[in-house]
Amino acid sequence: MPARRAHAAVEGAPDLFADFEGTPPEAGRLFVDLSVPRQEAKSCTRCPLYKDATQTVFGEGPEDAAIMLVGEQPGDQEDLHGRPFVGPAGQVLDRAMAAAGMERDKVYVTNAVKHFKFDRRGKKRIHQRPTNSEVDICRWWLDIERRVVRSRVIVALGTTAIRGITGRSSSVTSLRGKAASLPDGTRMVATVHPSYLLRMPDRMAAEAEFSRFVADLKLALKAAG
Ligand code: URA
Repeated sequence: MPARRAHAAVEGAPDLFADFEGTPPEAGRLFVDLSVPRQEAKSCTRCPLYKDATQTVFGEGPEDAAIMLVGEQPGDQEDLHGRPFVGPAGQVLDRAMAAAGMERDKVYVTNAVKHFKFDRRGKKRIHQRPTNSEVDICRWWLDIERRVVRSRVIVALGTTAIRGITGRSSSVTSLRGKAASLPDGTRMVATVHPSYLLRMPDRMAAEAEFSRFVADLKLALKAAG
């Protein structure tokens, strides 16, 4: 296992969150690995989303990964399989990672919110965006994952992920294209959520946006060194 990295602020990196106070104190328990939190998260009732979801979808990947990817919340397939990014958005993500030269099994993949939030319409379960309060409550788990994994770089896939990571609501546009320095020394690369690419009706525009997404992943690889 590689030596743990020291977390100093990164010289020269834009320090966009200097006044952000960091992880909430209640998430301050120290864990040597994620086995206990992963188990505890299975019975999480910190917000009401557990009531309708099939199961908690905790993050997965090497616990000493240099890069952590954070999505919004599990979708329908993830909820059923208990794993992050295994549905259609996951396929786009896999394709982009392959194009960027990022190996999925070397990256820790998780979500800002660990339960699927949806509206039932007939037999269909339609994704619903989590509220800021649900994201803030679920930071309990994301903060623990971050403290254990201590990745050099964290990639925020969309605005919900940005909120989960920083505790603030910022747009992707305002943060994109740079590796910002977070108070714990981690660099954050913000990009779009892969499902945004899936929803784009214009194929040419979607391809151009996919290339930007790949470029963002390459930036994360570069920042991870
Ligand atoms: N969308 C996400 O944000 N995360 C997943 O795991 C799947 C879809």
